[in-house]
Order: sequence, then structure tokens, then C-alpha cells
Amino acid sequence: MDYSTSYTPHADAIAALFTATFTASEGPDEGALIGALARRLIAETPAEDLRVVTAWEDGALLGGIFFTRLIYAGDPRTVFMMAPVAVATAHQGKGIGQRLIAHGLDALRQEGVDIAVTYGDPAFYGRVGFKSVSEADMPAPQPLNQPQGWIAQSLTEAPLTPLSGPARCVAAFDNPALW
Ligand SMILES: CC(C)(COP(=O)(O)OP(=O)(O)OC[C@H]1O[C@@H](n2cnc3c(N)ncnc32)[C@H](O)[C@@H]1OP(=O)(O)O)[C@@H](O)C(=O)NCCC(=O)NCCS
Repeated sequence: MDYSTSYTPHADAIAALFTATFTASEGPDEGALIGALARRLIAETPAEDLRVVTAWEDGALLGGIFFTRLIYAGDPRTVFMMAPVAVATAHQGKGIGQRLIAHGLDALRQEGVDIAVTYGDPAFYGRVGFKSVSEADMPAPQPLNQPQGWIAQSLTEAPLTPLSGPARCVAAFDNPALW
């Protein structure tokens, strides 16, 4: 498996991966929503606020992850949110998701990012180091429909201590339907 961090040349393939994967797992409406999110994240997010890691084999796109910056008004630490994450339906359950996430988190660590946060199933993301956090300790940029899915980890030696908000996400995530 090869990893890539270049995204603009692969925008169509990445959007198609997210549309197809989320259509298969959660239906066509969610597929269209997340496919459009992937497209907007690539088209509209300033490069300094976006990292995309993709996994390829024999020229086929197997999986992808987006990381986007969260700004905490009262805190100097660098925070990136990991979302969305997709592994092509036919390739799920083979460890690709966990390897891709570990690779993406390592890259963030190497560039000095302090904290990674995500919004998803704690049972799955707990396997790659994420732990539940309260919205009091780490405010979310939008009201959360599933607060139990708000999870984070420190990427440094420092423990994960509360972040003071308000929190701001990139423009493509400013949509309550995504939260
Ligand atoms: C979630 C996803 C990225 C995981 O990637 P993957 O390559 O299939 O995962 P891995 O093979 O590394 O890990 C699989 C393990 O995680 C578990 N797992 C996978 N998806 C899970 C989920 N949504 N919730 C809980 N556990 C999950 C599997 O049961 C499996 O456990 P096992 O090893 O005990 O059998 C992938 O299944 C996917 O794209 N799903 C559809 C889209 C989605 O839900 N994305 C996440 C929300 S942003």
C-alpha cells in the first residue's frame, strides 16, 4: 500500500470514494452529503488548514482521510480534526483504516500538531488512540447530535488538558447536518 498527501490532482477520485463508501454504509443521502463535503474541503480549504492522506494499491484508491484545522480562540495549541474517513467498501475489515489513520496521525505529529480530535464511533477510533472528551473540556464548533462521539488524543508528550473555546472549523464544515 502506498500513501499520498497530494489531493488536488485526485479530487475526482477522492470525492467518488467518499460518495460510494458512505452510500454503501449509510444510504444515498449520506453518500451525497459526504461526497460533496470531500469536494468542498478540497476546493475551498486553504492549504495550511487541510491535510489529506490517501492509500493506493496498483493505481486504485483504497482509502482516504481528511484533517482540517480547528481554531480555539483562547488556546495557542494546534488542533486538527480527522473527518471524514473512508475505506472502499470492498477493502474494509482488512486493517487499512487503522493503518491509514496511524500514518496520518504520525504525519501530523511530525509537523508538530498538538491535538487530534474526531467525531465518530469510540469503539473503532479507540483502537487508534482516541478517547472521549466532554464538550466542556473541548468545545465543538457546532452543536453535536452525538456528543459521545466527540473524541480526541494528544499527539505530544503533554497530557490532553482542556481547550478554551469558542472553537472554529473550516468553512466546509459549517453545516449543522454534518454534526
Ligand atoms: C470505518 C472505516 C473507515 C474502517 O476502516 P476499515 O479498513 O474497514 O477498518 P479496519 O480494517 O482497520 O478495522 C476493522 C475493525 O474495526 C471495526 N469497525 C470498522 N468500522 C467500524 C465502525 N464504524 N464502528 C465500530 N467498529 C468498526 C470492525 O468491526 C473491525 O473489527 P475486527 O478487527 O474486530 O473485526 C470503514 O469501515 C469505512 O469506511 N466505513 C464506512 C464509512 C464510515 O463509517 N466512516 C467513518 C465515519 S467518518
